[in-house]
Amino acid sequence: MTSTPSTLSSKRIYIQEVVTRDGFQAESAFIPTEEKIALINRLSRAGYAKIEVTSFTSPKAIPMLADAEAVMQGIDRIPGVEYTVLIPNLRGAERALAVGVDEFNLVMSVSEAHNQANLKMSREDSFQGLSSVITLAHSEKTAVNISLSTSFGCPMAGMTSLPDLMHWVDRFAAAGVRGITICDTTGMANPAQVQAVCEVVQKKYPALQWTLHFHNTRGMGLANALAAVNTGINRFDSSLGGLGGCPYAPGATGNICTEELVHMLDLMGFHTNMQIDALLDCSKDLQSLIGRILPSQLLMAGKVDRLHATPCQP
Ligand code: COA
Ligand code: ZN
Repeated sequence: MTSTPSTLSSKRIYIQEVVTRDGFQAESAFIPTEEKIALINRLSRAGYAKIEVTSFTSPKAIPMLADAEAVMQGIDRIPGVEYTVLIPNLRGAERALAVGVDEFNLVMSVSEAHNQANLKMSREDSFQGLSSVITLAHSEKTAVNISLSTSFGCPMAGMTSLPDLMHWVDRFAAAGVRGITICDTTGMANPAQVQAVCEVVQKKYPALQWTLHFHNTRGMGLANALAAVNTGINRFDSSLGGLGGCPYAPGATGNICTEELVHMLDLMGFHTNMQIDALLDCSKDLQSLIGRILPSQLLMAGKVDRLHATPCQP
């Protein structure tokens, strides 16, 4: 499954933005609905394959995204971009159907402890509820993806074993999802582990749409993305400016940063289809919007083609 460098360099990589969902959900100061819509409209024209617009969760659990309907209804839907939303239960799916989405991105955790903390129910109860959502999605001809949180490790239960992950992969594959996102919710994965997981899942289910979702909590984010690419993975979630983190996972920090991921892949010769300068402009404006420095090293340093004046000699 591991690709050679020559086949890698011509490869298309699909970038999926999650800043207005994973990025915004833990922010304390409410971001106005019109600002969310304006940002998504700019991002929609930057070349993404998919944008996770919002989540249809309980407004008590995630107050920042209580305006999910208004945001979904307010954005421009650019042809070629898939607009997905995070859904934890049937109630969320019904709300999403009422406004029209391209994909349901279901969520549950591989770790029982994180599922209880995040979704207030057992994994089994999540699975039963999500099975009804999958049935609904199929009858409504809506694509369905499952994001498996804590796929590599859980801040409360420790490292996740491959058999534990495969148990849930197998059950959702049997339930008929189109895609599965393997999420490293709190940046516990390392590149060797990522390689092993990616090889096993693609070999077992080559027809599923696989996405990798990394957080850079321990500085391994881009190394993990590259390890995944080297096994043939071609789809990543990432967040503008590196903003993000689950409010119900102790110690969670930002996702891998979209502009850094795109900058690296483009320099290596991959085809991301992304407009890096537009991303940097959006990221700079996002910094003003949330009122603090984002964890984007690229925003600080500029692209590799940014030249500086020679320092004056004494
Ligand atoms: N959308 C809107 N409201 C919802 C809802 C949904 N999808 N699901 C439940 N609710 C409402 C219920 O109607 C109820 O409202 P009420 O108090 O006014 O009667 C309230 O939320 C509690 O419902 P309940 O079924 O008891 O849910 P809960 O308190 O056990 O929470 C979840 C379960 C899944 C709804 C909630 O934990 C959640 O939304 N979690 C999302 C967490 C998340 O997004 N984390 C980050 C992403 S990884
Ligand atoms: Zn995440």
